[in-house]
Amino acid sequence: MENQFLGNQHFNISNQVVSATCPSNIALIKYWGKYANQIPANPSISYTLNHCNTQTSMEFFADEPFSVQTFLAGNEEVKFAEKIEKYFKNIEQYLPWILKGKYVIKTENTFPHSSGIASSASGFGAIASCLMELDKNFSSEIRDASYDLKKASFLARLGSGSACRSLYNGLVVWGKTDEVEGSSDLYAVKYPDEEIHPIFKNFNDWVLLIHEGEKSVSSTVGHGLMNTNPYAERRFQEARENFVPLKEILKTGNLEKFITLVEHEALTLHAMMMMSEPAFILMKTGTLEVINKLWNFRKETGHPLFFTLDAGANVHVLYPENVKQNVLQFIQDELVGYCQNGQYICDQIGNGAKSN
Ligand code: PMV
Repeated sequence: MENQFLGNQHFNISNQVVSATCPSNIALIKYWGKYANQIPANPSISYTLNHCNTQTSMEFFADEPFSVQTFLAGNEEVKFAEKIEKYFKNIEQYLPWILKGKYVIKTENTFPHSSGIASSASGFGAIASCLMELDKNFSSEIRDASYDLKKASFLARLGSGSACRSLYNGLVVWGKTDEVEGSSDLYAVKYPDEEIHPIFKNFNDWVLLIHEGEKSVSSTVGHGLMNTNPYAERRFQEARENFVPLKEILKTGNLEKFITLVEHEALTLHAMMMMSEPAFILMKTGTLEVINKLWNFRKETGHPLFFTLDAGANVHVLYPENVKQNVLQFIQDELVGYCQNGQYICDQIGNGAKSN
């Protein structure tokens, strides 16, 4: 299967500068647990965001000894460069020219540094897009844009699993499931547009930044702890099963069932962390306060305001665009007070990666 992405040995390298922008994404059915070579233990689905993104420029110096230098917001990042070097060595069979030059990679995130928002999804999405741009420039063959996008998603996955979903806009599926035609463990695909009720096409995601700074347990370690988690198999099975009701929900626009499923997924992710050995908790007091306030508000008003979480303390507050006027005041008055330094990001479903 991976063979479809093996690189062409005929290429013509030259000095180049390419750049790309890639957004972050937030999973609704979560990926948590993986096998060798970044194969997910269960399928996942996410919304691609709009404002939370990474802009990357990649300068390639042909025929210089292979090396990588990286800058994040203008500051040299040696650790990140080491990670990228390892990643490039790992994907050589898919881009046979990749070790034949020197790289200077400059990246900037639109979201605050150390805000706890994972930059790996948008970061690797942008790097994979830059690499495919270089590949295009070095090859003389006629290119198929949809294959190039699929390969960018495939390459992004090898950098950071969930990054493969950031290459597409809207609702995106990664991992083989019988419920979504063409889905694969190797790359992400767009959820079919015609199967999505309009209510799910215009959605807001306000990211409440509850806690700044490094997470106590990285997602790499967290995924690894699923190998010994006694509830892991049941969890993987549940995620697979959740695609059946989700498909119906997305088609019919059943917001109530959507809310139940999405919040259950978020809490299951954190329950898995608590049931790992050793156990860990990434939520903070503010995370729980926000969840309880939001639940009370929903109970009292009936407005479809709900949450999801990623592997951290931040709360993603979700609501369809058509109820904005009814929920805005509540979020501003009652929830943003829990954000560290008052920081939050008003985002919505976005557009996937773009080469600049
Ligand atoms: O792509 P990773 O290895 O950073 O893992 C991401 C895991 C979650 O964000 C918690 C869930 C997901 O599906 O994005």
